[in-house]
Amino acid sequence: MLPDSFIQELIAKNDIESVVSSYVSLKRRGRNLVGLCPFHGEKTPSFNLYPETASFYCFGCGAGGDVITFIKRIENLSYIDAVKFLADRVGMTMPEHTFDDGAAKQRVRILEANREAARLYHKCLYSETGKTALDYYHRRGYTDATIRHFGLGYAPDSFWFLRDELRKKGFHDEELRAAWLCGRSQKGSIYDLFRNRVMIPIIDVRGNVIAFGGRVLDDSKPKYLNSGETPVFKKTNNLFALNFAKQSGQKQLILCEGYMDVIALHQAGFTNAVAALGTSFTADHARLMARYTDEAILIFDADAAGQKGAQRAIGLLRDTGINIRLVSIPDGKDPDEFIKNNGPERFKLLLERSANDVEYRLIEVGKRHLLTTSDGKVNYLKDATALLAELHNPLEREVYATRLATELGVSKENVLLQINNQIKRRRKQQQERQMSQIVRRAETMQGKANPEAAKAVRGASAEEALLGILLLNPEFLATIEKELQPEQMITAFNRRLYETLLSRHHEAKFIELSYLAEEYEAEEMAYISKMVKDSRERVSSLTLDQARRYVQVIQHEHELRGLQNPEDLTPEQIQEKLKTMKQMKQ
Ligand code: CTP
Ligand code: MN
Repeated sequence: MLPDSFIQELIAKNDIESVVSSYVSLKRRGRNLVGLCPFHGEKTPSFNLYPETASFYCFGCGAGGDVITFIKRIENLSYIDAVKFLADRVGMTMPEHTFDDGAAKQRVRILEANREAARLYHKCLYSETGKTALDYYHRRGYTDATIRHFGLGYAPDSFWFLRDELRKKGFHDEELRAAWLCGRSQKGSIYDLFRNRVMIPIIDVRGNVIAFGGRVLDDSKPKYLNSGETPVFKKTNNLFALNFAKQSGQKQLILCEGYMDVIALHQAGFTNAVAALGTSFTADHARLMARYTDEAILIFDADAAGQKGAQRAIGLLRDTGINIRLVSIPDGKDPDEFIKNNGPERFKLLLERSANDVEYRLIEVGKRHLLTTSDGKVNYLKDATALLAELHNPLEREVYATRLATELGVSKENVLLQINNQIKRRRKQQQERQMSQIVRRAETMQGKANPEAAKAVRGASAEEALLGILLLNPEFLATIEKELQPEQMITAFNRRLYETLLSRHHEAKFIELSYLAEEYEAEEMAYISKMVKDSRERVSSLTLDQARRYVQVIQHEHELRGLQNPEDLTPEQIQEKLKTMKQMKQ
């Protein structure tokens, strides 16, 4: 356990605003700051930062917490490592003996085993056993300096090489399995997973060996064997060679498909190349790239799989707002082969000429339509404007609109008008998607935030509807307050929320979703945002009269519930209740 005083100092020194703004571009809104959430893809900001409470909350995905939680999630660290990260950031030294955390200890052991394994594989490459593997690398054109730089190695054709070496160094079988270096046979014996493969260590931005990729030396299958997920390795949170690329001093990152391409590119001087790790490119990868660069140059193979991969990556990268350029390699080669055949200078030319992906996609769209017919022209215009509507930069849209107008012989204004209509349509679709996401999450959250709601459906729905109206029309509170006592609320959570609204109303404070985040947990906030959203959809019934009808339903339910425990009531009270109920029914 870390001492409270240490955590207090850590939080005080790591001002949340400056920590978060190195990952998220924040804009001030009132006392708070907003930005695009780094934890889910979005185009309209729903990530809120509350400097006063040193916390954050995203209305889109429900992520929330303090500065340590933020670092934990964004850097993919354990609690203790996140604390260490923040301590390093402000030059604080960690108190001693704080690492008795079992999971943290296991991570350290796995990283140590991986580092040893990388050393052993590398050593093996330069021994008698590794001769064919070293020949293989040399034949591919990789120099010894490159092999050393990337720590490349060879896993010999043995079931026990690594196991025995690492056991000698004091590693337990469980640790070797947890590191995804060894497996256990049905009979219970432990054996090496990587055999007779050239080995590529995967190193994270902090310099840890977190995983391996292993390639066969011939044409046998599977071509690559990659480490599975372990406590120190998540495929989508890492890019191969990002540890070098982030130090390249280049403002772009080159994204290619394979390990071998990246190695060849680095050897040729393009040290800003990275690749996804034996998996298709994901939104996590895109966000990771966006954290290190403003512009990605995509190089994908010319085959169908490569083109599909490129389309996918373009979509995901575009969502992060960074610039994208595309390079296609002539003759359907990959960069590794191209450089080997043509040299780095020619490759550099390719990079410089790399078309912006919009041009590339416009050409693709153009190919699909017959531009000599007017029908073809109309459809081309429709598809092309849909494409241009994706551009975030109005200047860029203008440039392409002009070009398109000339090409088709229509006015630029007309093209821009169509683009704007498409933008509006996209925005609406996007909002609807975001909203339905929120609702889906909220529904699962409802159970956690307000567990009573399921048992008192009618009452809870009326409460939610009433609170939704009040959050949208706080001025109704003055009237409603006189008619509904907090005690009459049926579910405890809604009662608490009603009390919060009343007390903010009395103190003349703002009543708005984002101001509640300091008092309510992430799940509770998701539940509250659903109330507001539902009410907003019933626009026509957002009246004070409607609010009063909900008050009546709540009171009615309240009475009924009172009757369910008649033993708690005096006979007079029961009489009284029956009377009011009769009145209500009339
Ligand atoms: N890959 C994988 N498993 C496979 C095939 C491919 O994980 N069975 C991943 C690897 O990360 C590989 C990338 O997909 O680096 C690209 O695959 P491919 O183009 O087939 O490999 P290259 O990197 O071009 O390898 P080589 O040049 O050695 O054929
Ligand atoms: Mn290749």
